[in-house]
Amino acid sequence: MRTLVKHALAAAEPHNAIAIAGWIRTRRDAKGFSFLEINDGSCFASIQCVVDAGTPGFADPHPFTTGASVEVEGALVPSPAAGQQWEVKAASVRLIGAADASYPLQKKGHTLEFLRTIAHLRPRSNLFGAVFRTRSRLAFAVHEFFQSRDFVYVHAPIITASDCEGAGEMFRVTALKGNIDEKPETDFFGKRAYLTVSGQLEGETFACALSNIYTFGPTFRAENSNTARHAAEFWMIEPEMAFCDLPGDMNLGEEFIKAMARYALEHCAEDLAFFAKFVDKGLLERLKFVVERPFQRVPYAEAVAILKRSGQAFEFPVDDGANLQAEHERYLTEEHFKSPVTVFNYPRAIKPFYMRLNDDGQTVTAMDVLVPGIGEVIGGAQREERLDVLLAQMEYHRLRPEDYWWYADLRRYGSVPHAGFGLGFERLLMFLTGVANIRDVIPFARTPGNAEF
Ligand code: 4AD
Ligand code: MG
Repeated sequence: MRTLVKHALAAAEPHNAIAIAGWIRTRRDAKGFSFLEINDGSCFASIQCVVDAGTPGFADPHPFTTGASVEVEGALVPSPAAGQQWEVKAASVRLIGAADASYPLQKKGHTLEFLRTIAHLRPRSNLFGAVFRTRSRLAFAVHEFFQSRDFVYVHAPIITASDCEGAGEMFRVTALKGNIDEKPETDFFGKRAYLTVSGQLEGETFACALSNIYTFGPTFRAENSNTARHAAEFWMIEPEMAFCDLPGDMNLGEEFIKAMARYALEHCAEDLAFFAKFVDKGLLERLKFVVERPFQRVPYAEAVAILKRSGQAFEFPVDDGANLQAEHERYLTEEHFKSPVTVFNYPRAIKPFYMRLNDDGQTVTAMDVLVPGIGEVIGGAQREERLDVLLAQMEYHRLRPEDYWWYADLRRYGSVPHAGFGLGFERLLMFLTGVANIRDVIPFARTPGNAEF
């Protein structure tokens, strides 16, 4: 039976009959034998196979070249080479699929931009193998974090008729041909439908029944911003807690990010070591710092005052009442606080309708968690639980209450204070790996003008 390279390399003792399979990373020929470095993606390291010239299956000139898939049977023996405990002494080799010299992943380093054009092959590179193993482990860690705290996992719908964020950045879903706006009532769902931008509103209905819930699924935004931290399709984790206020929400956000950093340090050490060496030299110190130190917290008004006092020449002016730009967020975390920071109590006008109005009538109980290198990773709030204020908020934001009747019902029947947030999974991965572009932490990025693969 085939052994994963990860398990072969972790063996406690030699083994005289082992079979491994994978893709050839490199081949070096010596007199009378060859070295094949074989990687199967199960771990960062490749395993070295020593193949004698006469080994069954090993023809000469042979097609065992970079990129080919092979199976090797033989003995797992101590390796004399530095940095590896074991190697395979081949008894037989078998070519599974050849790869000719046009194979694009040759040994020389490739740029990230080039690798994006071969997104179907890039998981076979060191960097992307590490990124996607880390992504998988962190997805598991997300579930473990919430399940161990008795949060109920809710599958929010992907097709929805309501715009949660009110930003009008939704992709339309339609089965109509021709003019899709002429008779929306004849469309598949009997009304206009969209891909969801957030599972929050549906999540709230479940929190108002099951107490603590979370969603974890794909979300979609038709925002035409071609930046390193925006994708049209990304995964969001959205916990929602009944009987919870803004401080409780901020505590959960902080605890969650700390737990994810701790998990990565403990369970993705080999891949993180690679990121720390080749992607972001300060990565491990930063993650340890995040795990050990409390985050800073400041009200929006104070954040704006800090930015105004900073004397920095920002591209976008710092304006009371305006949204913080990425450069402002990064100044706060990287220069001023030198730490993740939670900004809360934003102006009512720049935040969605569902956030709870503060007693000042001017601000709402929003909270954004900003981290160095990225800016916002979490956006959340305590929700408006008072029916009359919620209806007034809808009017203020020019929404039609009849579109949100079911959402308002939660305030009509047994309303409770509740709060939650959304964390962008890709932004978290950027933070935990040091990879600077969101396109490089998603298997197949969807961005303006790009839906290849
Ligand atoms: O701040 P946002 O828009 O908040 C919401 O959607 C709320 N309904 C969440 C809630 O309270 N349940 O988005 C939440 C997070 C952001 O902080 C960011 O990390 C990520 O989602 N995000 C994106 N990630 C990648 N590409 C985009 N275009 C993103 N837009 C938001
Ligand atoms: Mg936000």
